[in-house]
Amino acid sequence: MKMHQQNRLFIFFIAFSLFSLCFGSYLEDPFPVSQYHDQIYNHYPTPASLYTFRNTDFHSSKTTKKRRDRGSSFSSSTKVVNVDDFGAKGNGQDDTKAFELAWKEACSSRKATLLVPKGRTYYLKPITFSGPCRSPLTLKINGMIKASTRISDYENDRRHWLKFEGVDNFVVEGNGIINGNGRKWWQNSCKVNKELPCKRAPTAVTFYQCINLVVSNLMFKDAQQMHLTFQKCTNVKALNLRVVAPGNSPNTDGIHITETQNAIIRNCVIGTGDDCISIVSGSRNVRAMDITCGPGHGISIGSLGAENSEAEVSNIRVNRALISGTSNGVRIKTWQGGSGYAKNIMFQNVVMKNVSNPIIIDQNYCDKEDSCPEQNSAVKVSNVVYKNIRGTSASDDAIKFDCSKSFPCQEISLLGVHIVGQGNEVATASCENVRLKNRWKVYPQC
Ligand SMILES: *[C@@H]1O[C@H](CO)[C@@H](O)[C@H](O)[C@H]1NC(C)=O
Repeated sequence: MKMHQQNRLFIFFIAFSLFSLCFGSYLEDPFPVSQYHDQIYNHYPTPASLYTFRNTDFHSSKTTKKRRDRGSSFSSSTKVVNVDDFGAKGNGQDDTKAFELAWKEACSSRKATLLVPKGRTYYLKPITFSGPCRSPLTLKINGMIKASTRISDYENDRRHWLKFEGVDNFVVEGNGIINGNGRKWWQNSCKVNKELPCKRAPTAVTFYQCINLVVSNLMFKDAQQMHLTFQKCTNVKALNLRVVAPGNSPNTDGIHITETQNAIIRNCVIGTGDDCISIVSGSRNVRAMDITCGPGHGISIGSLGAENSEAEVSNIRVNRALISGTSNGVRIKTWQGGSGYAKNIMFQNVVMKNVSNPIIIDQNYCDKEDSCPEQNSAVKVSNVVYKNIRGTSASDDAIKFDCSKSFPCQEISLLGVHIVGQGNEVATASCENVRLKNRWKVYPQC
């Protein structure tokens, strides 16, 4: 008898979870990015078979799913912590204190959702949201969070604005906007005003040492420097994001992945003044798919090996991207004098529109005013596959492999690559110190 009751309760819970799951996702889809992508790809048909992908080497989806199921079946007991109840006003005054208090409450509660309500703009100074929290936590941002522009507010830490540290099983979602309010920082950048000394500006949002993290549906705008960084994280999903800043804003990378394992970036529209996505040392198993990129500097692995450092990047896959009006398309960049490797990298199903360097490996990368000295050591680049990459180049050089004399690029494959000039002109390929492995239907050729 008791057993029977339990079963009924269980069935009720399942039904309720399904209902809340479906209804929840019906309500939220502020940016129908996938629709947008369908439109784009209808113009550039690609064989459907190339669109399928396997997910075996990623554990994150499994973990997340488990947590989500559990989450929704307990959704009736979710405690909503509203920043307004802790004194946030959203009236142009500083709301940092209220966010600190609300975080403390949410993080120490069982099953909480920290809510930033819609319709208002909350101004924040630099703030660190620290874990570990008592149980899985959701941060729901429906309003706008905007950065203080007083540079003195950043005295203690010029490198971060919003920092989430050591928060595991964490979901950040909503249809709100995170606005770095970066104009003042850009004006004070040495890249814009050559008279000024080069100083760092804050990354708008940093996730540091987080495990099982989902960031979805948000918009990031006008960061002081980089928009969204994942550092030393494991199992990350960045889904349905929009990242927007002017094409001439300095160093405003969209999504930056560093020392992070098992990351999926999916359905994101990114247009900024620097790399749409940059993946740097200590990162492996990173997958970016359904990416719209431009303006900006394209999708980059690197830079790696600066100041004779050791770099290790492996198992990176970019699948399905539209890159337009950028200075680079898919790029690997390393400094001379570094060591380590960038290996097992695949770029596939990419459409380029008027991209200055559509395919580029640059092992002589130098981002300094004066030229960099020639050095013998290098970050080794190997096993890079370019598959089904087509479109137009804004420069003559559609393919540029500028590899190290001492450590040539190894096992480079080009499969179904067709890039022409903007007006269908001929394009060229320049290939220095590169060992090609497979080549099939490639234009232009080395
Ligand atoms: C192509 O890119 C070049 C250089 O970035 C730019 O000057 C030009 O206006 C672009 N053309 C089109 C049609 O967008």
